[in-house]
Amino acid sequence: MTELVRAETRGRILHLELNRPDKKNALTVEMYEALVDQLQGADRDAQVRVVLITGAGDAFSAGNDLRDFLERPPTDESAPVHRFLQALIDLEIPSIAAVQGLAVGIGTTMLLHCDLVYAGRTARFQLPFTSLALVPEAGSSLLLPQRIGYARAAEMLLLGEPLDAEDARVLGFVSAVFDDAALRDEAFARAERLASLPPESVRTTKALMRDATRLSLPEQMHRESERFVERLRSAEAREVMQRFFEARRG
Ligand code: COA
Repeated sequence: MTELVRAETRGRILHLELNRPDKKNALTVEMYEALVDQLQGADRDAQVRVVLITGAGDAFSAGNDLRDFLERPPTDESAPVHRFLQALIDLEIPSIAAVQGLAVGIGTTMLLHCDLVYAGRTARFQLPFTSLALVPEAGSSLLLPQRIGYARAAEMLLLGEPLDAEDARVLGFVSAVFDDAALRDEAFARAERLASLPPESVRTTKALMRDATRLSLPEQMHRESERFVERLRSAEAREVMQRFFEARRG
């Protein structure tokens, strides 16, 4: 079986690639578990100084696998999806994401926990929580308004309006935009630069930058998680997700 998360160490960079392109890199329980192992391992390995996350194919990620949401939904904060988010939040070394094409749901919210996000021109960030009868996760109800302002965050979180690469750059959701063909090289170049800097200084700077949200984030994530689990069990959410697969069966 092909590896659904490909992990490769290049010099001091751990490159993690979401590798389920036929399903637009929709994230399964197994993929979250592999990501947790890799992220936790990265902090233990003194040789690794930066984590770079990419998606294989034309999309970054279509978000949580909807079949998993129906058949093995997260029930509490010990679920793999939460452990993945926590591992990303807890990561002491910096993380970089390079995003081309679609980034849906957690494909977008995880980016709020990455230190540098670079977008290809085709990047499109979308949070369809309300149309799925769900609620925001990953602390996005707190972090997204902080990052891009309430007005635009409300369009994304309430209406599910997408954000394109250029708007994402202007609003400060991503650091820079490149042609898709150049994206990976540009992200690697920045990862290499980060990896060459004094590691303790980089780690401490990251910690200082994250400290501002450290107090409110766990509380908000807990609140979101309780509502999310309730919503996943609701008849309205199950109906929407069943319809997604029925529409594909024709
Ligand atoms: N979970 C499970 N499977 C998914 C998926 C998801 N989140 N997103 C896409 N897929 C699968 C599709 O079922 C399809 O599989 P199939 O070829 O076996 O039918 C395959 O990935 C390709 O998707 P498709 O819908 O044909 O591609 P598209 O380019 O027309 O549309 C999306 C891409 C992402 C817009 C669309 O698939 C979509 O809306 N997915 C759901 C996104 C979502 O709601 N995520 C959860 C957020 S909380």
